[in-house]
Amino acid sequence: MTDGSTKYPHLFAPLDRGRLHLKNRIVHASMTTRRVLDGRVTDPMIQYYANRAAGGAAAVVSEPLNMATVQTAAHKVRVWDRRNVAGLKRWAGAINAFDCLLLGQIQDSGRGRHERGRNPAAIGVSSLPDDLSWTVPHVMSTSDIDRMIEEFGSSAARLERCGFSGVEISSGHGHLFHQFLSPWSNQREDRFGGDFEGRLRFLIDTVASIRASTSGRFLIGLKFPGDDGIAGSIDPELAARIANAVTSRESIDYATFCQGAHARTLDWHIPDMHWPRSTWMGLIESLRSAVNGVPLMGLGLITDPAEAEGHLARGAVDFVGIGRALVTDPAWPIKSAAGREAEIRYCVSCNTCWGTIVDGQPMVCDNNPRVALADEVDWKPAPVARPRRIVVVGAGISGLEAAWIAAARGHQVTVFGSSENPGGKTRLHALLPGGESLSSIYDYQYLAAKRAGVVFKLGIMAGVDDIVALRPDSVVLATGSHMCWPRTLPKAWEAEGMIPDVRTLAPQLLTLTQPQGGTAVLFDMDHTEGTYAVAEVLAKLFDRTVLVTPRERVAVDVPLVSSLGIYRRLAKKGIEILPSCELAAESSLEDGIVRVRNVYTGALTEISEVAVLTYSTPRASDDVLAAPLRALGYPVTEIGDCRLPRTVLSATSEAHRVAMSL
Ligand SMILES: Cc1cc2nc3c(=O)[nH]c(=O)nc-3n(C[C@H](O)[C@H](O)[C@H](O)COP(=O)(O)O)c2cc1C
Repeated sequence: MTDGSTKYPHLFAPLDRGRLHLKNRIVHASMTTRRVLDGRVTDPMIQYYANRAAGGAAAVVSEPLNMATVQTAAHKVRVWDRRNVAGLKRWAGAINAFDCLLLGQIQDSGRGRHERGRNPAAIGVSSLPDDLSWTVPHVMSTSDIDRMIEEFGSSAARLERCGFSGVEISSGHGHLFHQFLSPWSNQREDRFGGDFEGRLRFLIDTVASIRASTSGRFLIGLKFPGDDGIAGSIDPELAARIANAVTSRESIDYATFCQGAHARTLDWHIPDMHWPRSTWMGLIESLRSAVNGVPLMGLGLITDPAEAEGHLARGAVDFVGIGRALVTDPAWPIKSAAGREAEIRYCVSCNTCWGTIVDGQPMVCDNNPRVALADEVDWKPAPVARPRRIVVVGAGISGLEAAWIAAARGHQVTVFGSSENPGGKTRLHALLPGGESLSSIYDYQYLAAKRAGVVFKLGIMAGVDDIVALRPDSVVLATGSHMCWPRTLPKAWEAEGMIPDVRTLAPQLLTLTQPQGGTAVLFDMDHTEGTYAVAEVLAKLFDRTVLVTPRERVAVDVPLVSSLGIYRRLAKKGIEILPSCELAAESSLEDGIVRVRNVYTGALTEISEVAVLTYSTPRASDDVLAAPLRALGYPVTEIGDCRLPRTVLSATSEAHRVAMSL
């Protein structure tokens, strides 16, 4: 037994129940990777999954596949297309080589769409609008449905011939099966609707079709809807009835429950950093009695092996489905098994992965700059032939990423940091509501840097002389950025320091324990997560909090799956939003009056009794060290915000790339 398997005996125990044989209790949950092109299997896609298999998962559930001919999306593999047979075999072979099972996911989003506009390929159960995109689908006839069911069966048979161990039917998340199951969306009067039995028929007949087309060894897993949060739709009670009816009639190899729908509850699908860990475990456990003894998979914001072990040890579930945590670190299982948890790069639940795939880009990760690269699993930087002296200025997440990699490659690295603690602005965000998990980014980097021998000089605002004194062969500047002064306010006010930006104000707010009274105004030209975390702190301390933004709504730069949560929290906390407005110079701060100007009409609105005004605006690089160092002949590379202020993703990925080139 390895150290880890002693520590996590339940997580690393095999599971043998009926047809289901798992070497441990860790299954990769289905996630769209956007690494498929033209409906064809691609090598980058196979590499993504092979890495998760090599990292120790017992089974991998694929992203949704085009199983029926009506499903033609170019970013999903067309199983019905014979030209994919060789690719499907290669895919299964690459996963099975690691003693890992591959299951293909059957799913169709039906009328659902979370991108802008209507879904042009929408097929659906009834002529009713999607709750988010308002797409009204082409209503499937009974023969359309029968054909789809038959094709699901024949494609499943093809998957089996190609080496897949089974399928997972996604009947939750507000997708097509869910739309049939829900009385909210299914208004048919034919045999696929009308009553509970009718609404179940599409799913039951699909399972039967797959069973009839495949061998006795083929696995069928079911992702059921749990609680979709829509009045008159599927609540836990109806979820239990559905799961009970399906699992008592059909031979199902595992079951799980996912939450939310294609509606205002979209954020329940993929709980972000504001949700409690293992968000849905209690609900899933409460539905255990509904699945007739079928192995139950726990799912939703499980990021840590100790959490997973706890759920398994108390018998809440039989195994765990892990999505984002395996994107961030595919070696999560083997590192856990070996007692190397401190070396795991943990998912911070930022949902950047989801944001990128919805933008049509390959899935990436804030805390894993090597997603799907051939050497991704348990990656260690290769040593350089000629170690050099590197000075990194800045101990935020870009400086730390560059430092640990450069040092792990054998360079002699010194890091200057202006603060006593590493982590930069991400450290501040981690102290704000919902930010806690972000500490995993810099904790990992700092530990890796220490392990690799990086020398830290923290609490020093390094100047040119400090850097030159170390006689560096190369300097990396990761000195970050500052928020721009709101240009509609008098420049003189900036010099007077009357109005702090949110980064200056937030640490002061965090020391306050008593209500302050009055109104807080936050001018928002940022539209990312951290700004709304500050707004939440303000709402706790002040009588009234007003967000003013020149755009027509807030949180535009946050993926929809997380911005819905922001809107909900702002609404619950009574935070007011004044859209399409800029701060006006006609404000009179001494009198507690802030005036804002509508960007379209010029009309002024007055906000009174203002106790605090703050701003969160686009950032400008802090790169003053670059020119003098270059003038002295030092090679200088700016990274992260210091080069061009952007996102956490850009900071970590750019620093990673630059450090590999040093
Ligand atoms: C980027 C991304 C894409 C996803 N795509 C799918 C999908 O296509 N089908 C599906 O059933 N679930 C999908 N999910 C949901 C996951 O399977 C899982 O239910 C959810 O992420 C919660 O698990 P986690 O907290 O371990 O990530 C996706 C999740 C993410 C993050």
